[in-house]
Amino acid sequence: MSSFLGVGNLVLDTILTTSHFPAENEEMRAEARQLQPGGNAANTLYVLKQLGHECALASAIAVDDSGRKLLKAVSDRGIDTSLCQKRLKGATPTSYVLVNKENGSRTIVHYRDLAELDFEHFARQEIERFDWLHFEGRNVDNLKGMLNIARTFCPNTPISLELEKPRDGIEALFGVPNLIIIARHYANDTGLADAEAAIEHVRTFAPQATLVCTWGSDGAWFASPGNPIRHQPAIPVPRVVDTLGAGDTFNAGLLHKLAEGAPIDEAVRFAAELAARKIRQQGFDNLLAPLADDQPLTHVDNVTNARATIARVPGKEFSVILIKDGEGKIRAWVNNCPHQHVPLNEAYKVDVNPFTQTMKCSVHDAWFKVDDGECVEGPCYGDHLTPFPIRIDEDGNIYADTSESD
Ligand code: FRU
Repeated sequence: MSSFLGVGNLVLDTILTTSHFPAENEEMRAEARQLQPGGNAANTLYVLKQLGHECALASAIAVDDSGRKLLKAVSDRGIDTSLCQKRLKGATPTSYVLVNKENGSRTIVHYRDLAELDFEHFARQEIERFDWLHFEGRNVDNLKGMLNIARTFCPNTPISLELEKPRDGIEALFGVPNLIIIARHYANDTGLADAEAAIEHVRTFAPQATLVCTWGSDGAWFASPGNPIRHQPAIPVPRVVDTLGAGDTFNAGLLHKLAEGAPIDEAVRFAAELAARKIRQQGFDNLLAPLADDQPLTHVDNVTNARATIARVPGKEFSVILIKDGEGKIRAWVNNCPHQHVPLNEAYKVDVNPFTQTMKCSVHDAWFKVDDGECVEGPCYGDHLTPFPIRIDEDGNIYADTSESD
């Protein structure tokens, strides 16, 4: 376990999930609204926290209602906020985010009315106690001084810099960090054609640094000082749910592995895996838990109309019943009897009558239709089993289909 200090902008993310991306002048309803702390360093720290590290955030905070709530939300995540700088003037930085359910894209509109962290405030903090110092590449004038005192007072502590977009004079910061993480946005806006060009460009200012450049679904390129550039492809995922903070999660994976002493290729690989895991779910909570569609429930060959196949759902407390109906279609039901909310196989196996296409709960003998889950005989007559969404891949593996849930 290491202790990380993250320096950056803490913002309030107001996230609306929509069925599609709206057209200009369209009026539509969001399917969900979520308010959560955001900002690249804050997100990275939350993921590092889940990876078992101690984390502290240094950020400017507005003394308004949202600011107080944000501080609490960050401390509830187990992140130390005592290095934050309270500001009487200005409002909590807010980002309005549209997450398009069709493809997980995130479109962000920022509102900013708060001065960022002061060098003077940073200089008063006891940064020597941290094992790693991570900075967002912004607030350039103040950051210059922060990086210099960080290097002076913590000569052996790894320093990382996240380079999201070009900012005036930012290249002057490149001589200090051990690790610079370059986003595609920086490369595009600097007129660099690809990740390799971005690495070559930054390298001219930062020969001492390990450089990593992320390029969305094309993966990441990386090079340690004096070594050739290598590529890590992105990890394919069954369905993209939410890409907000995928880069921040990648950064956490990278820092985690490098802090453990892993070589850069291993660290980048782990970072890519963690980012792939992140985009399969909404938000950052429980990022290390298995997802329902991680492993197949079973294979089509194991499902017949004569037997109830019971499969555990990865990462969930319940199992599902898979069975074929009279038409040969595979049906999946949550294994939970609506009578007393116990699994249908709690007392014995689930008996199936293939002639009437019904199956029986072993506890109090309630009979359910295989095709629509209705109870046609027994104590919960007229009630229904809950359908469970599945998808079947081309090899016949049956998975939980998470496309309708978050
Ligand atoms: C995601 C994010 C959001 C925030 C925005 C700030 O990477 O950090 O949480 O709104 O970017 O640029």
